[in-house]
Amino acid sequence: MEQSFWRERWDDGRIGFHEALGNALLREHWPALLARHAARGVDARSRVLVPLCGKTHDLTWLRQLGHDVVGVEFVETAAVAYFAERGVAPRRFERAGAVCYEHDGVSIWVADFFAVTPEHVGTFDLIYDRAALVALAPEQRQGYIDRLVALSNPGAALFLISFEHDFDGGPPFSTDGVEGWMAPAFALERRFSHDVIEAEPRFKERGASYMIEIAWFGARPL
Ligand SMILES: C[S@@+](CC[C@H](N)C(=O)[O-])C[C@H]1O[C@@H](n2cnc3c(N)ncnc32)[C@H](O)[C@@H]1O
Repeated sequence: MEQSFWRERWDDGRIGFHEALGNALLREHWPALLARHAARGVDARSRVLVPLCGKTHDLTWLRQLGHDVVGVEFVETAAVAYFAERGVAPRRFERAGAVCYEHDGVSIWVADFFAVTPEHVGTFDLIYDRAALVALAPEQRQGYIDRLVALSNPGAALFLISFEHDFDGGPPFSTDGVEGWMAPAFALERRFSHDVIEAEPRFKERGASYMIEIAWFGARPL
């Protein structure tokens, strides 16, 4: 989707995707993902990449576990709002042509994710994607997967939350068959799924008869 599409949504406060308390599936399943990758030295001190992060409370939750957390979000007001809502004054700096806001182990790069390189953020053993892949049009998916590979280390773990639904278009776009088209970059294993249509009437209004939220554990091959 165009940057203007998202900028207008942030400007108008149409951010129905934002979860006031953060994501419940992250809290439930993240410890098991860490345990699965512990033998490779992954733990609560490992850095986490959060693509298309908005101002999600999940950045704070991951930081409170001990991680250094690095978000990427191209709408600057979202990044500024994240820190303002916590009453902290982030350090603002530029590197390699991109702006970053940082405070106490949480960084948000104000950048197009497709233009972010290891020169900006380094590389990661942990990635958390909630409402990122599904925010992208199908023709943007391969570029997104390529970026995840460029910004991660072999063996890196991915926690992905996706949607499958039966209304036309998006966002959120239905990611049917994701375990097929994310391979071989990431091997995905379905960890949990449930239908959230009754709890999300806004999707019924768009014509959905089901809205399956799926939590995946993914891993890059070594
Ligand atoms: C559906 S929202 C999800 C935000 C967050 N992950 C959450 O769970 O609340 C998608 C976010 O990605 C941002 N975004 C979309 N395309 C982007 C891109 N190419 N680079 C950086 N941010 C992008 C949008 O501005 C928006 O804040």
